[in-house]
This record gives sequence, C-alpha cells and structure tokens, in this order.
Amino acid sequence: MTTGKLWGGRFSRPTHDLVDAFNASIAFDRRLYREDIAGSIAHARMLAATGIISEADRDAIVGGLEAIRADIEGGRFEFRTDREDIHLNIEAALADLLGEPARRLHTARSRNDQVATDVRLFVRGAIDDSLDRLRALRQVLIDLARREASTVIPGYTHLQRAQPILLAHHLLAYEEMLTRDAERFTQARARANVSPLGAGALAGVTYSIDRDLVARELGFEGITANSLDAVSDRDFVVDYHAAAALTAVHLSRLAEELVLWTSAEFAFARLDDAFATGSSIMPQKKNADVAELARGKSARVIGNLVQSLTLLKGQPLAYNKDMQEDKEALFDSVDTLLLTLEVVAAMLPTLTFDAARGREAAVANFALATDVADFLAKRGVPFREAHEAVGALVARCEREGRTLADLTIEEYRAAHPAFDEGVLAIDLDSALAARNVPGGTGPEAVARAREAAAQRLEGERG
Ligand code: ARG
Repeated sequence: MTTGKLWGGRFSRPTHDLVDAFNASIAFDRRLYREDIAGSIAHARMLAATGIISEADRDAIVGGLEAIRADIEGGRFEFRTDREDIHLNIEAALADLLGEPARRLHTARSRNDQVATDVRLFVRGAIDDSLDRLRALRQVLIDLARREASTVIPGYTHLQRAQPILLAHHLLAYEEMLTRDAERFTQARARANVSPLGAGALAGVTYSIDRDLVARELGFEGITANSLDAVSDRDFVVDYHAAAALTAVHLSRLAEELVLWTSAEFAFARLDDAFATGSSIMPQKKNADVAELARGKSARVIGNLVQSLTLLKGQPLAYNKDMQEDKEALFDSVDTLLLTLEVVAAMLPTLTFDAARGREAAVANFALATDVADFLAKRGVPFREAHEAVGALVARCEREGRTLADLTIEEYRAAHPAFDEGVLAIDLDSALAARNVPGGTGPEAVARAREAAAQRLEGERG
C-alpha cells in the first residue's frame, strides 16, 4: 500500500497534506466513536450469524472493538488525521490490533451506510436526552405555577398592558409549547430510528446479509426501504434541527420575558445572585446574562437548521462528501439546546416574584376596561356599542388623571344608561374569576390546567 490509506489500492501517490487536512473529519466525528463501534459490533455479529465470517473472526473483532472503545474512553487512543474519519480510525486501529480478522469487518458494508447508521444512532440518543431535559423543564414550570398560584401579572398584547392574568397561566403557556416540542422530537425519533446498514455504498450489497438482525441489535424499529435513500437521506437530521430550533425559539421567548420582568421598568421578578452577573464598570448592575444567552443561543440553533437544509439542497443522489458537513452543526445544536434547557430549568425556581407589584400593574392602564364593556354587553347592549361607551370613559379618565375605579355610578350612567351598581364590583379578582373557562386565566381553570399538565407529564414518564 503506497498511500497508507485503507482505500489506497488504486492510488500510486499519497494524498497531499492539504487534502488530508481538508478531507479529514476526525477532529469532530470522533464524537461518534460509541455509535460507530456499536454499529460495527452488530455488523460483525450479523456477518458471523449469516456465515459470511467465522465465529472466531467475529470474536476477535468484537473483542478488539471493545478494547478500542476502552482505549478511547481511557484517553489512550490516538486519533489520526491521516486516517481521515472515525470509521477509518477505528478500522485501522483494529487492523493494527488484530491483523487479518479486522480486514474482514468491512465485508458487505460501506462507509456510506456506516456513517448514516452512526448519525441515526447519535440523533436518537440526542433526542432522548432532549426529551429528558424537556420533561425536567416542564416539571419546573408546573412546580413554579403551583408555588405562584395566586401571583398576578398584567397580560400583554403588542406589549401594551391588556388584561390581568395569573403568572401561572403564563408559565403554563410555555409548558404547552414545550409539550408540543417534545411531540416533535418524538416524531423525529421514530423517523430516525430505522437501520440503513445493508444499503452498502448506494445499491445494496451482494451477500445474503440479515438486515433485520442488525437493526434489532442496534434497537432500530426497522430497516430503510431504499438503498439510495438510505445513504443520502439526512432529513432525520433536518427533523432534529427543526424540532431543536423551535424549542430554542420557545426558550428564547421565555428568556426575553425574564429579561423584561427583571428590569426596573417591569420589576415583576428579581434574579437570584447565582443566576445574574455584574458589570465591570457599573457597580450597581445586576444583569440577566443567563436569560440573554438563552435568547441569543437560539440564533445558532436556527442557523444550524438552515445549514442542514442548505447542505442538502444541491446534492444529487446518492452519497456525497458534502454529507460530512452535517456533523458539526448537529453537535453544536445538541450541545447548545441541552445546556440551554438545563440552565433555564435551574434558573426559573430561583426567581422571586413581587406579588404586590404584579397586582398593581395588572389593573393599571385600564386593564379592566374589557370587563366593564362585557358588563354592558351582558345586559343586552351590543358589544360594539358597549366598547364605544367604555372607550369614551377611558378617554375621559385619561384626560382627568383618574381610573375607572374612581368613577361614580352617576358618571357610569351618564356614559351609558344600561350601567348599574354592579359595575362598581368589577375588580382584579372578579376579572380573573370571570375567566374560569377552559383555557382561561381564572384561578380554578388554571389550577385544573396545571394538574392536567402534571398528569400528562407523569403519564409520559410512565
Ligand atoms: N466521514 C464521512 C462522512 O462523514 C464518512 C463517509 C465517507 N464515505 C465516503 N464514501 N467517502 O460523511
């Protein structure tokens, strides 16, 4: 072998150093060593079970691969750039260790179905980790909704105070989003969880292999149906990125709320010292860096989704080396998302909410005006007419520097004859209680929703 490469038979000159550097993926795909070794062990066992290699060779190969795994985990393995990628690094090391039996491992296999297998296994594991972290964060939101069951904040539309809501209702909105994110991950997992091994380079292999045996051994639910698709499909990577990006966007929105709520302008919540940072020049500062980063990290996860789509768009079937570029973005999103989920879950319970400030802000700025209009409408006044009358009252109060609560019954009656004393009873608590409807922010509705969410989560843990 003049090139020193496992694929070097038809080459008469070694590759240029630059090509080695450009072509190699070992710097990052070494992270797939566990998946690669698991895939090779399953493949070797199948080759023996189908009589393609001897049981003695299988035993040597399996033993050698396990030794290599132990070496990698013990930091004793030398990853070599001239050996290109994780697949060739492990195969070459196995050959160094065993000699001939190792050189039978790649029978009825290509690096193309091998890498597709590794990445599918990796994505499956990443999804399982994401689901664990999502469940943990959902539990945190539910627990916080229980702890803050009576805390009120203004609800916003257009970031203008709109109607009072329970903080718990707001938190549970995020629990709903994260539940859908978990569903998306679960669906992505099912699509990723099929075995491409046996597709060979692109056209299938010429041995009587047992693809189902390999699939079962690796915990796949089935096998891919088309060899070309098997080696060129990375939609399962895009699926992962899409679910991750939407989760990151949800976390970003929550993070943005935390930035707002902990500002002096809102002042609904205070950051724990353990989850805040200071300024190197302004001694008084306490910054919500954790929330800002949770918001900012979504940019890379979104970018990685776009990268994965762009990577695929121009590739003819089947495998192309472009595919190698799928990994760093994938690893980056996995690491980023898992860390963000973890830190947000750790931070949320440390927030202190200012209940008095929340109640005060919740009714300021005429936030009960809808309830006053509803009061008229419930007495037969067309809602548009009620809206108009209350709008005029709001304008008047604004001019006079008063609130709706300051108005006398005579002033109400002057605005619309259908008003009666009952209107004076409208307050924050009546406004909330009036919304004990399914999906509403009334305290009973929210308590029911919270316990339903808790049960749903419990059920998923099964
Ligand atoms: N390192 C390659 C990748 O990540 C492995 C597959 C290489 N296959 C090939 N035919 N060169 O995609």
